[in-house]
Amino acid sequence: MKALVTGGAGFIGSHIAELLLAEGHDVAIADNLVTGKRANVPLRARFFNVDIGGAEFGELLLAERSEVVFHQAAQPGVRASWGREFAAYTHHNVLATQRLLERYRDGGLERFVYASSSSVYGEAERYPTSEELLPRPVSPYGVTKLAAEHLALLYDKAFGVPVVALRYFTVYGPRQRPDMGFHRFIKALLAGDAIGVYGDGEQTRDFTFVEDAVAANLAAAERGVPGTAYNIGGGSRVSVNDVLARLGRLSGRTPRIERGPAQPGDPRDTGADIARASRELGWSPRFALDEGLARQLAWQGEAT
Ligand code: UGA
Repeated sequence: MKALVTGGAGFIGSHIAELLLAEGHDVAIADNLVTGKRANVPLRARFFNVDIGGAEFGELLLAERSEVVFHQAAQPGVRASWGREFAAYTHHNVLATQRLLERYRDGGLERFVYASSSSVYGEAERYPTSEELLPRPVSPYGVTKLAAEHLALLYDKAFGVPVVALRYFTVYGPRQRPDMGFHRFIKALLAGDAIGVYGDGEQTRDFTFVEDAVAANLAAAERGVPGTAYNIGGGSRVSVNDVLARLGRLSGRTPRIERGPAQPGDPRDTGADIARASRELGWSPRFALDEGLARQLAWQGEAT
């Protein structure tokens, strides 16, 4: 396939681009390098340093004639989305997605895979949470990811852009962004510093290893039912305290914990019902938490 990976210099996007190339596909990457890194761009990918929400992007896309778009580009981060920063979230998450969709409304695409988020659920009505439950985000970030998901599904309905949305649940693994939980925990652990935990540490997440998220993208490109959102979760709901204990065991170091206040915008729990993804995409997670943690530990150990 001829693929375009937006955000392909970022954490999840760069892994998607690598796997596509390894499978012999043609890959273009569009990334503004705000959170992404040039070093993450695989050598064989065509790279465009652009703002997807900006005007110059249209010409480039026409020339690319992509068949599948993996739209991973976004302004990420739940807790930073309050206050002045919100303008960046509306621009990069909502406006950029709308502009990208506009460019495909006249056809030409086989799939438009949108990176949605478990943050659309907020404090969910039930756990594990299925896609039918009412999304009610508790962070401005989650509001923008949900708005863009709704936009994408609208373009599917109105113009037949074949949109498949993947609601990722807290993805981790090599190249995880430095503002994210596991990255910060491991960095502090390896440096012998105190690990900052928000609240009592009993909040839970359905942590998902990056290779599982990547496999879900390839399955969505091939078999995703257009107009559908799928939960992509790691398969077990684990507390932050449990993660820290596991990191201690795996690294042979004792985590020193410093508790701070719980953060506005963080839901207490997330948990994915992945029945739909399993049924329709033929996808299920393959990496157990300890294996994924060991891989992220090894990556951060090498990087420091
Ligand atoms: C992550 C991503 O950052 C979002 O972009 C994504 O949309 C979201 O997952 C998702 O699933 O949709 P988050 O769940 O907050 O957001 O992921 P982490 O930053 O890894 O935080 C995990 C947990 O660790 C949270 O409960 C957080 O409060 C806690 N944490 C994080 C700390 O206790 N201390 C820290 O320094 C960082």
